[in-house]
Amino acid sequence: MTGTPTQAAAGKELMRASGLVRRFGGLVAVNEVSLSVATSEIVGLIGPNGAGKTSLFNILSGQLKPDSGSVSFSGKDITGASVTICARAGIGRTFQIVKPLTSLTVHENVMVGALLHHPLAAARDKAAEIVRRVGMGPLLERPAGSLTLESRKRLELARALSIEPKILLLDEILAGLNASEINESIHLIRSFAHEDGLAVIMIEHNLHAVMSLADKVVVLDYGRKIAEGKPEAVVRDPAVVAAYLGSDD
Ligand SMILES: Nc1ncnc2c1ncn2[C@@H]1O[C@H](COP(=O)(O)OP(=O)(O)OP(=O)(O)O)[C@@H](O)[C@H]1O
Ligand SMILES: [Mg+2]
Repeated sequence: MTGTPTQAAAGKELMRASGLVRRFGGLVAVNEVSLSVATSEIVGLIGPNGAGKTSLFNILSGQLKPDSGSVSFSGKDITGASVTICARAGIGRTFQIVKPLTSLTVHENVMVGALLHHPLAAARDKAAEIVRRVGMGPLLERPAGSLTLESRKRLELARALSIEPKILLLDEILAGLNASEINESIHLIRSFAHEDGLAVIMIEHNLHAVMSLADKVVVLDYGRKIAEGKPEAVVRDPAVVAAYLGSDD
């Protein structure tokens, strides 16, 4: 692979969200948010705590229905579709609070998703291949409950991959990792987009990782999209700086 990540050519539009709104009582958690992502493209989704990032993922992956707005995926309208339909269509996601099936092994955790597309024996092989891909080969038969935080995060990634997604929605998968673990994860995420052609939207508070990975950054604040563009430009945007640092006025 040549060139820097920002030079990588994004492919065809895969997912488009238009004017999404989601209210919780009087709170508008997601407020008229639109965004698009193409195959091989990495979009960084950033914003202060409570900005609505996870809620937006919950809408895109079928966990939450929007009050208004629409989502299209692979040219089809999937607004309000269930988690199962979204997974079958190829929307893979990780959860901010990792929730492996602790009594199952790493292998079995990943097999659950692989069974969506394969019979048992093939799912077993496919799951093992994915576990190795995320660097967890030696932990294959370990119970998920015995894993370190770093390994749990990787298992979460393997579970997202297990449904053979076209898009990966990654919710803070670098949180709590040390510098070398973060670097390994950065390489892995880049390979999913640039070698496998997956579209990636990553929610991330680690701006170094976002700057080095993202082709495009979308910033949410109080549910609204306040900026979108190349990482270098977005982090210098006064509205973004104010959202992160708090404004005096
Ligand atoms: N199920 C829910 N019921 C009520 N309020 C909710 C629910 N889910 C989220 N919220 C509220 O919606 C707002 C957005 O939350 P969300 O988790 O989407 O933010 P976030 O940007 O992911 O934050 P963080 O960076 O802390 O993970 C917050 O004010 C949150 O308290
Ligand atoms: Mg969140």
